[in-house]
Amino acid sequence: MRESTSSGLKILEDREFRKIAAFVENKVGIKMPESKKLMMQSRLQSRLKALGIPTFPAYVEYVFSSEQAGNEEAILLIDAITTNLTHFYREPNHFNYMTTEAIPALLKTGITRLNIWSAGCSSGEEPYTLAMVTEEYKKANPDAWFDYSVLATDVSTKVLQKARNAIYPMDSVKSIPLDIKKKYFLKGKNREKPEVRIKPEIRQKIQFQRLNFMDDDFGLANVMNIIFCRNVLIYFDKPTQEAVIRKFMKYLTKGGYLFLGHSETIFNMDLPLKTVAPTVFQKIY
Ligand SMILES: C[S@@+](CC[C@H](N)C(=O)[O-])C[C@H]1O[C@@H](n2cnc3c(N)ncnc32)[C@H](O)[C@@H]1O
Repeated sequence: MRESTSSGLKILEDREFRKIAAFVENKVGIKMPESKKLMMQSRLQSRLKALGIPTFPAYVEYVFSSEQAGNEEAILLIDAITTNLTHFYREPNHFNYMTTEAIPALLKTGITRLNIWSAGCSSGEEPYTLAMVTEEYKKANPDAWFDYSVLATDVSTKVLQKARNAIYPMDSVKSIPLDIKKKYFLKGKNREKPEVRIKPEIRQKIQFQRLNFMDDDFGLANVMNIIFCRNVLIYFDKPTQEAVIRKFMKYLTKGGYLFLGHSETIFNMDLPLKTVAPTVFQKIY
């Protein structure tokens, strides 16, 4: 049996694919049908290379070996498998709804502190956008006195590190209006590699934390007024999606808002939520 392609790619056979797929589904809930085999093969090449492991059977043996019970490689495997695509101001209608409807309605109830959660925050563009739009709201409404903080969680340690660094390629902010860029981003000095960094006053509003939605208890210290969990649930099967949203409900205040991605739905789920805008839900009890 061939172990590598002519271009040197290690070949992932069905047996190893099924073992890793079962592990990933079990550990982080991400569905791994047969159609994901090539994607898995390609994303794990870098792990085999980094470890100097010559074949997938040897890699599987390594990942599941008792010495690995710890299990550092499992974390790196999950890092490699997760899809982390994101960008600033993604699905802008949500940020519009948040500042024109959700925040004013929440402040009307008399609260002076907003707890916002970016659940599945990837490399940070979503939580930083949440902080920037909240800052803009505060500036436009000086009479509405309140403080806020953003909790940003993800299961992938690699993206959390990127998020904490808060450094992004210049290209990733090209569609952000200039006045917003000036207020919230610092320009890097390296001309060869143009980059921006989020300013400290925004960075300090965000707490990053590793959190796996498959855990029974999220162990969060605070309840939330606004939860963004976008483009994460699509990777789970329906019962898992419902179970995760139910866990969110423990942390969402009555009257609080849940924002899902535009291709995600709570259709046919038995949850204490009413739809208030496309893929925006409010907790009713
Ligand atoms: C496509 S990104 C979405 C990022 C952002 N919310 C957005 O909409 O732009 C999906 C993120 O969900 C995270 N994720 C996947 N499974 C997870 C789990 N079981 N627990 C927590 N985060 C998970 C991935 O690591 C990834 O960063």
